[in-house]
Amino acid sequence: MAARDPHRYINELDEAALQRLVVRLESRAMDAVFAALLDKYVARLKLRSSARLLEVGCGTGANLRKLARCGDFKGESVGVDQCQTIIDAAWSFAQTEGVGDRIMFQVGDAHHLDFPSGTFDAVIAHTLISHAADPALVIKEMARVVRPGGMVVVFDGDYSSLTFGYPDHDFGSRMDAALANATFNNPRIMRDLPRLLSDYGLELVAAWGDALTEIGNGSYFKSFAETYVPYVIKASLLPQSEVENWMNDQQKAMEDGKFFACCNYYTYMVRRQ
Ligand SMILES: C[S@@+](CC[C@H](N)C(=O)[O-])C[C@H]1O[C@@H](n2cnc3c(N)ncnc32)[C@H](O)[C@@H]1O
Repeated sequence: MAARDPHRYINELDEAALQRLVVRLESRAMDAVFAALLDKYVARLKLRSSARLLEVGCGTGANLRKLARCGDFKGESVGVDQCQTIIDAAWSFAQTEGVGDRIMFQVGDAHHLDFPSGTFDAVIAHTLISHAADPALVIKEMARVVRPGGMVVVFDGDYSSLTFGYPDHDFGSRMDAALANATFNNPRIMRDLPRLLSDYGLELVAAWGDALTEIGNGSYFKSFAETYVPYVIKASLLPQSEVENWMNDQQKAMEDGKFFACCNYYTYMVRRQ
C-alpha cells in the first residue's frame, strides 16, 4: 500500500486513529520547545487587539486557543479544518478553556476558502502546507482572503531534514525518509516557498529557520514517533520487524538518556501587496 499522509487523508481514518491525532496535536502544542516557535512569529505579527485572524488547517484549535488566552489579542479568530471530528474537538477544547465565545471553528477546505476576498488581517498556516494536496492553491487562497497590507504566515517543518539517531546509519537514514514520506504529502515544500509566495503577490517580510532538537531525552519526537511509525508499517515502506527494532531502540535510548532527534522548521512572514 502506498503511503497516505494521515492529515491529508484524515477523513479516511477511523475513530481510534483520529483520537490519536487529537492527542498528538494537543501534546505537541504543550511542548515548550515547539510552542516557542509559534510564540516567535506571533510576537512579530503584532496583531492589533481588534484584528481578524484566520488559521487554515487549524486542527484541534490549540494555536487559536493559546492566542485567545494570552497577550493583547482580543479580536475575532476563525479556524478552518477539513475534518468534522477535529472541528468538534476544537469546539469542545475551546469551551472547556473558556474561550469558546472568542473563536469560531468551521469545516472547510483550505484550497477553496468560503470567505470573501480581503476578509482577514492575518492568515496563518501552522503545519498545514506539508499536508496540503495542492500547496500553491492553498497559498493563493490565503493571499486572496487576507486584506491588502495584511499578513500571511506559513510555518512548517522541512521533513527531509527529519532525523533520529540510530546505530545502523544505513537503516536509520531509510527510516528517516520513510517517516517523512509516510506522514507528509510534501516533505520538502518549505524549500519552494520563496518562489511560490512571490507568485501570488506576497512580499517577503521575514523568514527564518529553527532546528528543533532533542538530545538525551525526547518528548516532542517521542510522541511524533509513537503517532507516525504505525503509518510507515501500514504503508509497508520498510520491513515491519526492522521498524519495530528501530522503535524499541528509540524508546531504550530515551530511557538511557542517549536519545537524539532533530528537524528543521521554517517560518515565512509575507505581506499582501
Ligand atoms: C498537522 S495538523 C495541524 C493542526 C494545527 N494547525 C496545529 O498546529 O495544531 C494539520 C491539519 O490540517 C488539516 N488539513 C489538511 N488538509 C486540509 C485542507 N485541504 N483543508 C483544511 N484542513 C486541512 C488536517 O485535517 C489537520 O487537522
